Amino acid sequence: MSVAAIDLRARRFAASVPELERLQAQALIEEIETLKRERNAVVLAHNYQAPLIYHGVADFTGDSLALAQQAARSDAEVIVMAGVAFMAETAKLLNPARSVLLPALDAGCSLAESITAGDVRALRARHPGAPVVSYVNTSAEVKAESDICCTSANALRIVESLGAPRVIFLPDRYLGHHVQQQTGVELVLWDGACEVHQRFSGAQLRGLRREHPGLHIIAHPECPPEVLVEADFVGSTQGMVDHLTRARPAQVALITECSMSDNVAAEFPDIRFTRPCNLCPHMRRITLENIRDALRDMRHEILLPQAVIAPARRALERMLAVGRG
Ligand code: 13P
Ligand code: SF4
Repeated sequence: MSVAAIDLRARRFAASVPELERLQAQALIEEIETLKRERNAVVLAHNYQAPLIYHGVADFTGDSLALAQQAARSDAEVIVMAGVAFMAETAKLLNPARSVLLPALDAGCSLAESITAGDVRALRARHPGAPVVSYVNTSAEVKAESDICCTSANALRIVESLGAPRVIFLPDRYLGHHVQQQTGVELVLWDGACEVHQRFSGAQLRGLRREHPGLHIIAHPECPPEVLVEADFVGSTQGMVDHLTRARPAQVALITECSMSDNVAAEFPDIRFTRPCNLCPHMRRITLENIRDALRDMRHEILLPQAVIAPARRALERMLAVGRG
């Protein structure tokens, strides 16, 4: 990191984390920084990580697409994924020569858990000839059965890149429904959902608008359709940041995991954030303590079955070749 980047991180850390919490975490953060130098390691943190991790120890932050791109080009020997299991597996698949550590092995995802490789094979048998697009929020085994992956930042573009009249799109039925609204390609959907985003409702958003006249609402496409129709903008977590940069609303509600607002508020001091709060329990399993333990003991290294690596990696690389939507 450059001196300017370190300085900016320190300022955002101070703006996002109360002083007492910062002081209590200081020794642990210094320990992690020392271990990072000794191991030639980087910490990649998803936008949903707690501010203490996001601003305190992360070398790179972003949405799942940005983390995958960064993992693919990283020349660090060790990559610590401050995210969930599918993000760590993705990093390992895209950069297999690195040691990828997931500080909490039980940091899963309700979407990834909703579908197995056997389910994908059964879908293919039922819809012969239809290519399979799998959201990155899936296991490596599911990716290995897929033609191409996507994230919420490029799902529409990926579907349309295939030039097929009918596509199997899995596992998020809400992201699938959102893409279906924008394309003539027929999508065969799976019944998965994100346990965090499916809890938002249209009534909740209408209530927010009544309470805060002029409120700008940005929603993640994993939300149900009744939520997305109430939003002013729909996008991935990075898409939300890019949209805020362009639109600069006076007051905003980010309809997504609630640490997202805490993390980006420091970047936009002129915007007032209204925080309806749904936490992802899986993201919360990552802590400064288990990041330190993972680095100190090289604990919880991601190892994948040999037979899965090549086909899963191909599906991810095809996605990276298409890029952001
Ligand atoms: P993004 O790719 O938008 O960061 O979303 C990842 C995720 O898990 C959302 O719940
Ligand atoms: Fe999975 Fe939802 Fe958590 Fe994202 S927020 S990691 S989709 S459970």
